Amino acid sequence: MQDKIDQYTAEIKAFTSAKADELEAFRIKYLGTKGLIKDLFEQFKTVGTEEKRTFGKVLNEFKQFAESKYNELKDSIDSSTATEDTEFDMTLPGEGVSVGSRHPLSLIRNEIIDIFKRLGFVVAEGPEIEDDWHNFSALNFPEEHPARDMQDTFFIKKNSGTDDIALRTHTSSVQVRMMENGKPPFRAIMPGRVYRNEAISARAHCFFHQVEGLYVDENVSFSDLKQTLYSFVQELYGEGTKVRFRPSYFPFTEPSAEMDVSCTICKGAGCNMCKHSGWVEILGCGMVDPNVLENCGIDSKKYTGFAFGMGIERITNLKYVIRDLRLFSENDVRFLEQFKTEII
Ligand code: DAH
Repeated sequence: MQDKIDQYTAEIKAFTSAKADELEAFRIKYLGTKGLIKDLFEQFKTVGTEEKRTFGKVLNEFKQFAESKYNELKDSIDSSTATEDTEFDMTLPGEGVSVGSRHPLSLIRNEIIDIFKRLGFVVAEGPEIEDDWHNFSALNFPEEHPARDMQDTFFIKKNSGTDDIALRTHTSSVQVRMMENGKPPFRAIMPGRVYRNEAISARAHCFFHQVEGLYVDENVSFSDLKQTLYSFVQELYGEGTKVRFRPSYFPFTEPSAEMDVSCTICKGAGCNMCKHSGWVEILGCGMVDPNVLENCGIDSKKYTGFAFGMGIERITNLKYVIRDLRLFSENDVRFLEQFKTEII
């Protein structure tokens, strides 16, 4: 019996195979119900008590050795066939790739940029940390004038006024930089983030986004402003959207106006979004004040221009019926993934 065990042990040790059918033959030969190990156990029943004591342990260890050899070879065959399958089986379904979504404010900003690009406007940007000159003084806000209170400013450095440094309160500051650094004609839109010291609520936030527009050339009139903004609204909200201009005041434009569009939700019939008036204000605009042109080194006798500024949040709210500004900055995936279909 010991001879047989030694012989089989040597055979099993030497056996190696990477083929499933050879391994199966191995299993049947040694571990099968009619296999050699089974034979040894049958033989074991017939030996004397003395031999039983010696061989019981030896035989069990031998059986375990054969089984572990079999399992080891089986595992290596299984794992190699698994990788082969994924490499070569083209019928297996692919692994899903989860694509993110564009932020609704980016979608609307891009749409606004596209529309104005078609009207011949270029895109410009400026810094979010601004000095007093670009944010206020050059835009005709007199020093210590209450007009500066229209916008609650986050100051970074507060000194005498003219050398203050602040987070820009509007993108109108980019107009100034553009006019200072170039020569007319100017036809540009300037998207960006702005900051105001406001308590955060559904209707107000301490930062938001604007798109500024500037058009300066010879013989630019208020009718050019109206036509440009009218075309913009038709493209953004669809043909037939009505617009109206109401007189207003901004230090940097004269005359100034605010523009309303017929409510895109109720089409003018009256709803919560338009506070039952049928109209919603979407931007401020006007003819660039000659003082502003002169402050930027542009001859106001020769050139005239118009400017406008709109809040991207407001336009996005109207387009997607979003009623709480805080949603835009909370990064709640349940909110953001609703804009998935629009990704390009
Ligand atoms: N800067 C203004 C604001 O933040 C918006 C604005 C109004 C911009 C009239 C303009 C303009 O260029 O002409 O409220």
